[in-house]
Amino acid sequence: MATTPNRRPMEDSAHSGGSPSMQEPWHNPLLDPRDLRMPRIAGPSSLVIFGVTGDLAKKKLLPAVYDLANRGLLPASFGLIGFGRRDWDDQAFASFAEENVRAYCRTPFNESTWRHLSQGMRFVKGTFDDSEAFRHLSATVSELDRVRGTRGNHAFYMSVPPKAFPIVARQLAESGLSHSKEGAWRRVIIEKPFGRDLASAKELDRVVSEVFEPDSVFRIDHYLGKETVQNLLALRFANMMFEPVWNSNYVSHVQITMAEDMGIGGRAGYYDGIGAARDVIQNHLLQLMALTAMEEPVSFAAEDLTAEKTKVLSAIRLPKDLAAHTARGQYAAGWQGSQHVAGYLDEEGISPDSTTETYAAIRLDVDTRRWAGVPFYLRTGKRLGKRVSEIAVVFKRAPHLPFEATATRELGANAVVIRVQPDEGVTMRFGAKTPGSAMEVRDVNMDFSYGRSFTEASPEAYERLILDVLLGDPPLFPTTEEVNLSWKILDPIEEFWSGQGQPQPYRAGTWGPEEADRMLARDGYHWRMP
Ligand code: BG6
Repeated sequence: MATTPNRRPMEDSAHSGGSPSMQEPWHNPLLDPRDLRMPRIAGPSSLVIFGVTGDLAKKKLLPAVYDLANRGLLPASFGLIGFGRRDWDDQAFASFAEENVRAYCRTPFNESTWRHLSQGMRFVKGTFDDSEAFRHLSATVSELDRVRGTRGNHAFYMSVPPKAFPIVARQLAESGLSHSKEGAWRRVIIEKPFGRDLASAKELDRVVSEVFEPDSVFRIDHYLGKETVQNLLALRFANMMFEPVWNSNYVSHVQITMAEDMGIGGRAGYYDGIGAARDVIQNHLLQLMALTAMEEPVSFAAEDLTAEKTKVLSAIRLPKDLAAHTARGQYAAGWQGSQHVAGYLDEEGISPDSTTETYAAIRLDVDTRRWAGVPFYLRTGKRLGKRVSEIAVVFKRAPHLPFEATATRELGANAVVIRVQPDEGVTMRFGAKTPGSAMEVRDVNMDFSYGRSFTEASPEAYERLILDVLLGDPPLFPTTEEVNLSWKILDPIEEFWSGQGQPQPYRAGTWGPEEADRMLARDGYHWRMP
């Protein structure tokens, strides 16, 4: 929970953000321990949210804005504008926001924070094809500049389906909203998925870049805002003991898992036809893989970090035999704990012959000296045994074991597991002698847990990312090149799957289709049971 809920920053904070070029890499407190105690506070600005009545805005964006304010990280001169079709005035929007903030905020609800924040809230009613509504938006933004002191700095968050990006971008351009005045900035935040393949991603990029400068475009991959994902950089590059063994001499393979116990919920319209691989492998899991496999960056400035991630993404090789090294599944009815849940094809809004996968697993190799011969297995699925995301680096067996064969029967492979969520932390698995007179070695776990080691709760990923946009701090946002390279990896797999008919069904509450187990068994491994 926040420790400074009542702190109200000065409007002209010394740490307020400027243009990206004004930001030094060491402004990022997470990435440089020297700066850890210095809070980074956004400068005068507003956030305009398109799609403000959607699930993401309700559960993540609005609460994140409130939590930032409550932690004292937003300036007094901050404004929030919702754009949507509802017949609301500012007050109705503020009530809607309050209801969701109260339901989903992570810091305690504080009346005085809320009062101040809600005074800067505005609602603009309209549809994306309504130019008049965008003129109204432009007038509202100017009004905030005058009465709230937002000083012409405005960020536009596109929490809308990708097909709406082009029209919103065009309207922002035509109403003059995308152009900043001297000394001010305009930025656009784009939710994933960025396209549905390489061609559409490039087209989208063309449209957006006609309206915004490249360094004003922030593509969100919220996994990069997660504390544990950033901890991967600390683990690898702040310590001595991991890096020497982080290569093909010692590592046998890497398993990156993002498992969810929930189904598609009310997102049929988005999910059907997209599927698990486009939804999360193209972005979250490939980003995790890039951070796991990359070389040490020269610094944690955006261009240096991107340079290393880009090298990994460029060096990724697909298996020749996609049938043997990929797996797809679709959840069928089953039990999730004590609850009986419907299968994917019976979910509301899903066509009964849909071939969309809700589970995907793929093997990728990285053609570099460090990783030659080390497969990376990426898997994700909905309605699996439990919600867990982790990166497991699994080591080779010791070349010689000076024990009786029976003594090491229970000894598995050593592993370093970065627990992304829940129960964020790191586990090290190794063999230890069991107590007693006999020499027997068995696997044990040694745990670091964020919850136990730190009193401060980790901020929600969206808090971190929204703050970074307001500060113009880009290291945690994938670049166009990274997005394109990721589609290049996924496109051939999607094309192969599109000719394969129905994905293999798996019962809800299990760990996915048998095909995925066979895929790993072929290489002599098995999936970890997180
Ligand atoms: C989103 C996906 O990017 O991540 C969703 O579109 C998924 O399908 C969600 O449920 C999971 O996020 P988290 O942070 O709960 O792991």
